[in-house]
Amino acid sequence: MRNYLISTALFGLCLAACNTEPKTDNLISVDYAEAGAEVNPNMYGIFFEEINHAGDGGLYAELIQNRNFEEAVLPSGTVYKNGYAVAPHSPSYSNGRYKDWKVEWNYDSLKMVGWTVTGDATYDVVKDRPLHPNTPNAMKLVMKQGDVALTNSGYWGIPVRAQDKYDLRFYVNPVNYKGNVTASIVDAEGNNLATETFDLSQAKDWTECTAVLTPDKTVKDGKFELRFDNAGTAYVDYVSLFPQDTYKGHKNGMRKDVAQKLEQLNPGFIRWPGGCIVEGATLGNRAKWKETIGDPMTRKSEWILWNYHCTWGFGYHEFLQLCEDLGADPMLVVNVGLSCEVRNGDFDPKFDSYLQDVCDAIEYAQGDVNTTWGAKRAEAGHPEPFKLKYIELGNEQIGEYYADRYNQMYDILKEKYPEITFISTLGLGPVTDNLKRVDMIDPHWYVNPTFFYENDSIFDAVERGKYDIYVGEYAAISAANMDGALSEAAFLTGMERNSDIVKIASYAPLFENNNRRDWPTNLIWINNDTTMGRASYYVQQMFSNNTPSVNLPTTLTETKPNVLAGAVGVTGAQPAEQYANVKLYDAEGNLVYEAQDLTEFKQIEREQPNGRRRWAAPASSILQGQTLENGRIEMNVKAVKVGMPNWRNPEQIDSVVSYPGIILGADADAQNYYTVHMGSNGDNPVINIARTTNGEGGFNRDPKGAAYTMDLDQWYKVTIDLCDGNVVKVSVNDQEVMTEPVRPLTKHYAIAGYDKATGETVIKVVNASNTPYVSRVKLNCADVSKKGTVTTLQAENLTDENSFENPELIFPATTEYNRFGKEFSYTFPANSFTIMRVPTSEK
Ligand code: AHR
Repeated sequence: MRNYLISTALFGLCLAACNTEPKTDNLISVDYAEAGAEVNPNMYGIFFEEINHAGDGGLYAELIQNRNFEEAVLPSGTVYKNGYAVAPHSPSYSNGRYKDWKVEWNYDSLKMVGWTVTGDATYDVVKDRPLHPNTPNAMKLVMKQGDVALTNSGYWGIPVRAQDKYDLRFYVNPVNYKGNVTASIVDAEGNNLATETFDLSQAKDWTECTAVLTPDKTVKDGKFELRFDNAGTAYVDYVSLFPQDTYKGHKNGMRKDVAQKLEQLNPGFIRWPGGCIVEGATLGNRAKWKETIGDPMTRKSEWILWNYHCTWGFGYHEFLQLCEDLGADPMLVVNVGLSCEVRNGDFDPKFDSYLQDVCDAIEYAQGDVNTTWGAKRAEAGHPEPFKLKYIELGNEQIGEYYADRYNQMYDILKEKYPEITFISTLGLGPVTDNLKRVDMIDPHWYVNPTFFYENDSIFDAVERGKYDIYVGEYAAISAANMDGALSEAAFLTGMERNSDIVKIASYAPLFENNNRRDWPTNLIWINNDTTMGRASYYVQQMFSNNTPSVNLPTTLTETKPNVLAGAVGVTGAQPAEQYANVKLYDAEGNLVYEAQDLTEFKQIEREQPNGRRRWAAPASSILQGQTLENGRIEMNVKAVKVGMPNWRNPEQIDSVVSYPGIILGADADAQNYYTVHMGSNGDNPVINIARTTNGEGGFNRDPKGAAYTMDLDQWYKVTIDLCDGNVVKVSVNDQEVMTEPVRPLTKHYAIAGYDKATGETVIKVVNASNTPYVSRVKLNCADVSKKGTVTTLQAENLTDENSFENPELIFPATTEYNRFGKEFSYTFPANSFTIMRVPTSEK
């Protein structure tokens, strides 16, 4: 691992130079009089799901793909019809609709995933001689003569290291085959790196073959082969090649470098096994923990809805073991009798067996060795109990039906296991009112960076006393780069500042094998011999390694730019009908623009990125050339019904109401501006101000406004006063309805906390703007040491990201800093996330 503390003279000099005499009115002020809420020391955890080959071909160290020849087995609960695996025709739990989910199914290509056969032989994957009832399929080879090879290409190549040891285990049923089988690891050209020959002449029925192979060369794109030297028929099943050098040396364990990447995240908890796969595309296809324990040879693999089979080699026991190895709290996610709502959504009206499954899972983890399931844990080599900390009941399940199911299960489980935190999948919103008692809810956000930048305060507004929050999945899904990472950092400042209610959080998804991307943004990339953390990974790591004991109230005050300086315009589908008597006055009250109506108004339609819908682009709506900073806008406005192309089917014209909207402070390309919505904003009849940033609108950091409905086809006189360049006052028919300060999106965020163990104030600052941010920092406590450390994650451009070629382009650098004080100035670099650790008194 790279040394995090670098104290090169150069870097120190640069920081010192950057921070000599910055003069500024910007201020980050930390208050010590009353400490804020405690921060959960295990707040930052990880979300594991089998997606992107995160487990098989990722964390789980098995080297053979499709080792049990079960890849073509249909998802449980589906039937094969005309090239598809088809789910049962059952109504969805959420709305009673029939979704009739199905997925394309091609037996012939699936059954050979990972495998090829060469030589004079016919072959097929068949189930007439099952090795084990849970894995009925096996490869049948009918060899006309010797020199037939069954070859596995692993997960896009088999990586081995010279002199390392690899455990080989496979099964052959020779039927009428009398001869040898030679097992070899070979390089890409077919040269032998390690070999062992087994004499099958005496073997009858299924025979286990084991050996330790020690390759003499390091390769990352090797293969594994079984070569038969005689004619005859033989069956092969469960072919496993496993490095002995796993994380913490466990058999059937984790790939060392991948697990170390998790270790470096210092995770507070691990969530397993997902994600959507817990729910299943259809109920039969759900994750079933009982199928993931015991000898891996006997584990039933299952197709998972990310479209490949999971061996469940990384099963429930391995998950609990990994938590123990990493010092992380286990979080088990269980199915509650409902399948995934966006797939089939079918459900089981009875829930006893699901409830029993949860109780058994708890018994497996922490029951006495004399209990049924506790005994199985002991058999697996861990008589000592594991401690389950969290259980999430379902995943991303929604609506009242789920709330009801949750209530029933919660009541029974909480009474039996009061020490376990039970999490509901419901997010923020009114549906949580249907929960009777709840420990935690689990909102998810896969959004663009702008949403995160705009919503760092989303938790400030959450009503206290109802539940704690686990932000179970979040990521800037449209931006795998520094912009995404910094937006997540900004959002995380909001979570940590609200640590009284936000107790735990996990970025998702965790891993991506670089040959297989099922999801756009994943935290850690894996190839055969390397792992790489994206910029977001280092944001996670910095938060996790710098969790304070308590929050300290922190305010960030900035010199306010005149955010309203810019162009004025109107929105709407029919400006000619909706606006009249438009007048603009400057700050001195001089009339600077006048139009009786907007019939001459240039309205250009622009294609949306989805290519399906045309909409009047704001750029076209600007009152040509009219800018205002302070002053007054007057106009008559009305809401009208208009025909709009349907977004799914542009040929179809829907009748919708177009409410007036007045644009303020627009930049030259009309990509950044404010809109005063008159009468409606989505479903709410309000007057309010929303910000559009880089063309993305609808987000409102301070969504304040006044309830107000505009009747259709009625003229209203609207007056908007722009004051001090950043306050908007709106009057309708000469009645003041709203006065709001407009906060600019400066992309500067700051929080602070106190680490009681080290006696340090921990300050976290995000500067996601592309210019350095100079600010004074004031620590209102008794004693401040001059010397501490500064860790900076920085990129030249917001579009930068790490890659396998340059894995540490964006990497946290820690340096000593000796210019701290009760008040000091600091220049936070452009595009950066900074953590300062300053030794201070507690008060
Ligand atoms: O993280 C990927 C998927 O996103 C998860 O499986 C699911 O819970 C969410 O929809």
